[in-house]
Amino acid sequence: MYLMPIIPKFIIRWVAKRYVAGHDIADAIKVMKRLSSENACFTVDVLGEEISSIEEVSFFEEEYSNLIDQIINHNLDANISLKPTAFGLLIDESEALKKIEKIARKAAKHGMFVRLDMEDHRVTQQTIDLVFSLHQSGLYNVGTVLQARLFRTEKDIVKIQEKLAGKSDIRICKGIYLESSDIAHTSYQDIVDATNSSIDLLLDCRAYTAIASHDIPVIEHSLKALSSRGFIKENLELDEVELDSINWGKGKGPGYEFQMLLGVRGDIRRKLSSQGHRTRIYLPYGKHWYEYSMRRLRENPDVAWHVAKSIVMPWTNRR
Ligand code: FDA
Repeated sequence: MYLMPIIPKFIIRWVAKRYVAGHDIADAIKVMKRLSSENACFTVDVLGEEISSIEEVSFFEEEYSNLIDQIINHNLDANISLKPTAFGLLIDESEALKKIEKIARKAAKHGMFVRLDMEDHRVTQQTIDLVFSLHQSGLYNVGTVLQARLFRTEKDIVKIQEKLAGKSDIRICKGIYLESSDIAHTSYQDIVDATNSSIDLLLDCRAYTAIASHDIPVIEHSLKALSSRGFIKENLELDEVELDSINWGKGKGPGYEFQMLLGVRGDIRRKLSSQGHRTRIYLPYGKHWYEYSMRRLRENPDVAWHVAKSIVMPWTNRR
């Protein structure tokens, strides 16, 4: 990790090709068309986070609007993920709501789902409240993300489920932000245990459950949890009629899906897909590719090996 500052930008650019689809929508479309052959579907993110003035929202508004058009024009199995702070959540909450609503309304016309990515603890409640407001306006095509490392998450699952009844769609992940021990689990095993029990709770609540992890213990737990609850057809044990009678919405799986980041553990994603599970790739693109790639690389403890390998054996730098 300490090697990161000395790795030249051109090498980061080379490695970034694995994690970022490119600079613009055309690049993202090209990558989606190629990876569609792996039976994957997509959620597309325009790179960029917290803005410093409300005027900056117009870039994201326009870009997401064009992105929806292009996904539809190219008939791709894709939806969108956006960061509420890029729409000004920390500057003007009601303005952010209006802007996000505009995008969600446009997506809804095409039956497209919109995911509000979850950022750090400052905006957890505000992000959940955005989802409630949008559902109140009839925009049921919106869902968010919960971070299992936060102590509050299981309570949030129950509250969201009570409020949105059969219409909740939650991506569950460990949480990328290193929150303090006052509000979050901090050890690896505690975070894995919390993630697994949140997955169980979501499935038991019959929320649409998007399992976003590359970690083997979480994936293995999920497969067992899905199987024992009758979500996996081959092992169907209970609730067949109930599960079959629910229409989860366009582009969705039978109550759950697996999600992975572009470029991370594609081998596991392809295996899940070949076993019949719906797998979605989180596909970021945009001019902030450098910052995003540095973050991805910092998170991966094998970074030095990975960078070295992609230079010496470039064919291994595969998405
Ligand atoms: P873990 O970190 O243990 O990873 C297991 C292995 O996978 C690692 O050893 C490494 O080899 C590889 N790996 C994992 N992440 C990698 C990465 N980024 N780059 C390179 N290799 C990596 N978080 C959040 O707070 N808000 C959000 O909205 C989202 N959204 C989201 C969407 C999707 C589709 C995914 C997959 C993840 C997120 N996350 C997120 C991030 C998530 O919270 C978490 O930080 C990462 O997924 C890493 O946790 P894992 O469960 O993958 O385990």
